[in-house]
Amino acid sequence: MIQGKFAILAIESSCDETAAAVVLDGRQVLSNIISSQIEIHKLYGGVVPEIASRHHLDNINHVVQQALDEAKASMDDIDAIAVTYGPGLVGALLIGLATAKAYALATGKPLIGVHHIQGHISANYIEHAELEPPFMALVVSGGHTNIVEVTGYNQCHVLGGTRDDAAGEAYDKVARVLGLGYPGGPLIDKIAKDGDPQAVEFKRVFLEKDSLDFSFSGIKTGVLNYVNSQKQAGHEINTADVAASFQQAVLDVIVAKTVGAAVKMKKDKVVMAGGVSANSKLREMMETECRKHGLKLYHPSPILCTDNAAMIGCAAYYKYMSGEVNDLTLDAIPNLPL
Ligand code: KG4
Ligand code: ZN
Repeated sequence: MIQGKFAILAIESSCDETAAAVVLDGRQVLSNIISSQIEIHKLYGGVVPEIASRHHLDNINHVVQQALDEAKASMDDIDAIAVTYGPGLVGALLIGLATAKAYALATGKPLIGVHHIQGHISANYIEHAELEPPFMALVVSGGHTNIVEVTGYNQCHVLGGTRDDAAGEAYDKVARVLGLGYPGGPLIDKIAKDGDPQAVEFKRVFLEKDSLDFSFSGIKTGVLNYVNSQKQAGHEINTADVAASFQQAVLDVIVAKTVGAAVKMKKDKVVMAGGVSANSKLREMMETECRKHGLKLYHPSPILCTDNAAMIGCAAYYKYMSGEVNDLTLDAIPNLPL
């Protein structure tokens, strides 16, 4: 216990951030250390799984120690160890999981396995003291695009997801086509501010009537075809216009489906989560649309949108409170369903 509160040491290593945090009673973050490998993976234009695992291995013990130091805590103060066990890159997940299990075994403290997406959604509880389920959640990251009905801290129902690329993946791929670099999301976010979102008409893919699923691979090809045809015709490409038009087409669909689902299912709160929820245009459009329908909108600050361990500590607290703990047989599940 720290300050009379339940203290969780949380570890996250599902992709390219090695992260550890100390979180009290699920909502008070004492430390949130994130060691990003972005600079390394930039060289390859995307995350290289084998390289990610190696760097997690190099970093993990330092990151955990730093999280304890910054929280002015020792292992004795910690009540439970939490860790992401899926979904994610299997080699990357295994490093965090092996570390968490080793700490749990050596100290005899409970181990709590957390679903990465549950973590992203829970990031919202950290900064919004009044937020409680039920609500509608939009999860948009490099690996996921889901509309999720959250009915309790540990209960949710996936209403829709992507049938091909995730939203963040589409941003990253389009950024590559436009020669912007990696990761593409924040770069498109920035450059699109100088572009005209109506400059190029990219198809909005809504799929079947009432479907809450997404498909973003067509628009990615649409951008590629547009760029190639312009080049062949000898026209110069206005990168800001293409970025803004791509973004508008993707976000029109995401916002319409999310707010539509919240209205239809009579929710009064909408929560955004995942790396793409840091996007300024998405936030602006969601604010406008939610206000129009009398919905309260929540999103984490950018540092809690992308991968971090504080969100894992938060989700773990509510699992622990409902009596859910794991034993040392807990394994990494790369395709763990929600
Ligand atoms: O949640 P996250 O850190 O990792 C996964 O769980 O996937 O999300 C990373 C994704 C990347 O695709 C990145 O390009 C995207 O989030 N992203 C953004 C922005 N910041 C990060 N996409 C659009 N606009 C942003 N500002
Ligand atoms: Zn993530």
